[in-house]
Amino acid sequence: MSSNEASPVLRQFLGRVDDYLLRYSKGFVPAAITRTEGSRLYDQDGREILDFASGQMCATLGHNHPVVKGAIMAALDEPMHLNSNMLTKAVVDLAEELAGLLPLGLRKSMFLSTGGESNEAALRMAKTATGGFEVLAFDAAWHGMTGGANAQTYAGARRGAGPMVPGTLTLPSPNGYRCPIRHCRDACDRTCLEVGFENFDRQTVGAGAAVICEPLLAAGGIVAPPEGYYSRLRQLADERDLLVIFDEAQTGLGRCGSMFYFEQTGIVPDILTLSKTLGGGMAMSAVVVGSELEERLHEKGFYFYTSHVSDPLPARVALAILRFLVSERIAERAKRMGDYFMTGLRALQQRHEAIGDVRGAGLLVGVELVQDRMSRKPAVGLGQRAIKRAYELGLFSTQSGGARDPEKGGMVWKLAPPLTVSEAELDRGLAIVDRAIAEAGAR
Ligand SMILES: Cc1ncc(COP(=O)(O)O)c(C=O)c1O
Repeated sequence: MSSNEASPVLRQFLGRVDDYLLRYSKGFVPAAITRTEGSRLYDQDGREILDFASGQMCATLGHNHPVVKGAIMAALDEPMHLNSNMLTKAVVDLAEELAGLLPLGLRKSMFLSTGGESNEAALRMAKTATGGFEVLAFDAAWHGMTGGANAQTYAGARRGAGPMVPGTLTLPSPNGYRCPIRHCRDACDRTCLEVGFENFDRQTVGAGAAVICEPLLAAGGIVAPPEGYYSRLRQLADERDLLVIFDEAQTGLGRCGSMFYFEQTGIVPDILTLSKTLGGGMAMSAVVVGSELEERLHEKGFYFYTSHVSDPLPARVALAILRFLVSERIAERAKRMGDYFMTGLRALQQRHEAIGDVRGAGLLVGVELVQDRMSRKPAVGLGQRAIKRAYELGLFSTQSGGARDPEKGGMVWKLAPPLTVSEAELDRGLAIVDRAIAEAGAR
């Protein structure tokens, strides 16, 4: 972290960061955030910054939304934490209202804290139910940092910590812009899916348990599989008795223009995990399964017991968020605002040769930067400079797609503002993206 150009207040702050904080990632953003509101952050010098990363993708309703604040305040006068076998009305209300938004095949929930934890539980369920242990995951997926979830994570954070869980197998990520098997260009014809399952058939020791998917890959480059992909995946999984897990940490609860992204895929997963957005900034996640599967799990002695399972406080917050998402039709809003934003980005694409592709769903958007549109070589330096320049100009955002190795995975600029973002804020974001690419390219 450089503190060369920082104000005295920031310099002092950064000095203490260097002294006392352990570096768990590439580096901290050189700022002391003092206030957050809606789609905006404010730093130590009062500078306003648009947050097109929605925090860590959790602030779906924007920062410090009155609904979230109100629920937290109310929850402080109710049971905040209990024995893990005790329940409050808020937890049962949440489970019932969640089931009301889902098809019959998804009815019973358990509530945990983080996304990784929810996937850990989902994988354990699949293993318990099937008696197998092999899991297929997209080779650009991100499912979390805990052991089982990390084994199914390829977008980064994989190296240097010893062996992964046995039975970890991959499925090529169906990226139409960068075909993983060098077969298609632009329109994925699902050959990679067939190849993936043929590979599974060669590698399996006959102990398949699940295929886990981010139905739209978020950390892996904002990749939406083509129409018909998931119906075929479901068929291939059924033929092998694999359960289908959808991890909707980033895509669920309105962001992609429908309450759940699986509604756009034509299939219903056997196990659904939700996290991030469910707590609006509080640690909160859920695993949802159908009644039959729940019965089977219970018969087989399914056990997943944590300190914060069924905690009442985050459940109260999640319930308030869920109700707000429904009453304010936030998914429809995300679709409308996403279309508006995407149209603006496509107009920028006309002007910047470096914008090779604009894609996504609702307000989960990726802009792929290339050296030229013919070769599609990733414009890694330009992309990194543009994201940095955008921050200097007042827009915080992150990189997706090959974050570990953009030369191979592509340089994708991820833009995902809160679903409550205004048109004026999107316009400001577009103007900053425009200027940042121009200035990054000119250097
Ligand atoms: C799709 C997906 N699943 C799971 C996770 C892990 O969630 P958490 O960091 O809350 O454990 C992430 C985190 O980015 C994610 O993007």
